[in-house]
Amino acid sequence: MSAPPTLQQLFEELLRLGHATTPQLAERLGCSPQAINARLAELAALGYGVESDPHRGHRLAHCPDLLLADELIARLRLEAGPPALLGREVFVYRQTDSTSDVIERLALEGAGEGTVVFAESQTRGRGRRGRVWLSPPGVGLWFSLLLRPPWPPAAVTRITILAAVALVEALDEMAGLAAQIKWPNDVLMGGRKIAGILTEMETDSDLVRFVTLGIGVNVHAFRLPPELQGVATSVESERGERIRRAELAVALLRRLDRLYRGARDGHFETITRQWGEHSSTLGRRVVISVGGQRLEGQAMALDENGSLLLRTDHGRIERIVGGDVILET
Ligand code: BTN
Repeated sequence: MSAPPTLQQLFEELLRLGHATTPQLAERLGCSPQAINARLAELAALGYGVESDPHRGHRLAHCPDLLLADELIARLRLEAGPPALLGREVFVYRQTDSTSDVIERLALEGAGEGTVVFAESQTRGRGRRGRVWLSPPGVGLWFSLLLRPPWPPAAVTRITILAAVALVEALDEMAGLAAQIKWPNDVLMGGRKIAGILTEMETDSDLVRFVTLGIGVNVHAFRLPPELQGVATSVESERGERIRRAELAVALLRRLDRLYRGARDGHFETITRQWGEHSSTLGRRVVISVGGQRLEGQAMALDENGSLLLRTDHGRIERIVGGDVILET
């Protein structure tokens, strides 16, 4: 008999087969029935409901709202085969400073592209422009990914754009929500922020060494400080019921993987088209504050790098790389 199976292997079998008896699982995983039963007991201790029928065997009848790396990887591998890049390595922290800081440390130690770090809570979650990102325990998806795109720094905004498309698609599939994207990084429901994206990079002269893509999704409703009431929302508040964070995470990672590979293969144009379908920015009059400057005009399109093309009131086309957008009516 070989080594006892990992929880990930057990998850994969249970998810693939639906029902399986202990001897079946033991045979498939090349281990003893006792090793299977020990792992099943571990799952139960974590809060997973395993129903056992004397004839049909075990079934995962209930999964808690827990982020467990073994389950996330098993689900990722199961649904339509293993992802090519993202989610090959998944780490889940109960608490950390910022998942983006963890990814940065891992990247500097040589971690591979596609490494993902989730945290149940962050003590120093951050948003764009040094803002604080509230990340209380158990209510959201707070995670970061390590990417090593073969692009110049100017093209890295593509990552923010494709992440926004992945978020809108996953929120639609898993929660039936029709979210909108405000350039560059806000995902909104009814004008309130439901998710945010933080794309940071480390460069070496004119080359990107690595990109840290940080994503925060407010999944369950939680008490917001007064300054965020009316500004932020959550999947639960919008949908009226809860969804499992792990399943939203897997749906998101699958899409991120597909879109990132598409962008790497030169299909960014398709992504900008999808982005345009969900954008609350294009075609609108906007005011943009960037580097202490205020620009006004009409948001026209995205360029090949994900920058926003703005037609100013003087008829000039400005290429906007970063900044805060205010949508005018
Ligand atoms: C923004 O909208 O300003 C971006 C918010 C990004 C928040 C996420 S949560 C996971 C990752 N870790 C962080 O510290 N920030 C990002």
